[in-house]
Amino acid sequence: MKFFVDTADTEEIRELADTGLLDGVTTNPSLVAKTGRDFFTVIQEICSLIDGPVSAEVAATDFKTMLEEGKKLAGLADNVAVKVPLTMAGLKTCAELSRAGTQVNVTLCFSAAQAILAAKAGAAFVSPFVGRLDDIGQAGMDLIGDIVQIYDNYADLKTEVLVASIRNPTHIVEAALLGADVCTIPPQVLKQLVSHPLTDKGLAAFLADWEKSGQSILG
Ligand code: E4P
Repeated sequence: MKFFVDTADTEEIRELADTGLLDGVTTNPSLVAKTGRDFFTVIQEICSLIDGPVSAEVAATDFKTMLEEGKKLAGLADNVAVKVPLTMAGLKTCAELSRAGTQVNVTLCFSAAQAILAAKAGAAFVSPFVGRLDDIGQAGMDLIGDIVQIYDNYADLKTEVLVASIRNPTHIVEAALLGADVCTIPPQVLKQLVSHPLTDKGLAAFLADWEKSGQSILG
């Protein structure tokens, strides 16, 4: 399973990229606005930090402007994945950009029917938002299972299931059990993944015993 980080904060991305665990980045207009920085500068900086896909989202809602924005974003760097909303205009833009060889991430997916359309439009990624479904009392992970199963039924569908709106490490484990292709993870959740109290306790005990032995590995 690939790990993307869900942030537009270049300092956080730099730190996480150094771990060697990152395969890509997703941003959205809210995450970019939170940085207070220029959108194009941010995307170009992120693209220089990461080799994998970096999602940059259009802001228009009509096809013509969305397509124009998508082309502009795709021109920023080779690894930009243009992000479009799951609307008819977004799907049309996705089909057009995908035909021209641009990677497209169709975002704000909340149903299996929508995910089928994203795949039909040639999306490189579809982003179902599990946390936001959980928030309204629906099981977000059930949607991931449905989409993975549907896509598996058709060998010609190449769209990757990118699990978005992740809130906790359990979401990632469940997505992996279901065979999702990618998780886009907020930095704080990525850091939570590594933690376990028994790891900390075990390490403290090993180090204390090693100290008592009086030995040193490097001499
Ligand atoms: C996905 O690409 C989105 O940026 C993101 O996962 C949205 O998550 P949220 O529901 O926590 O805002």
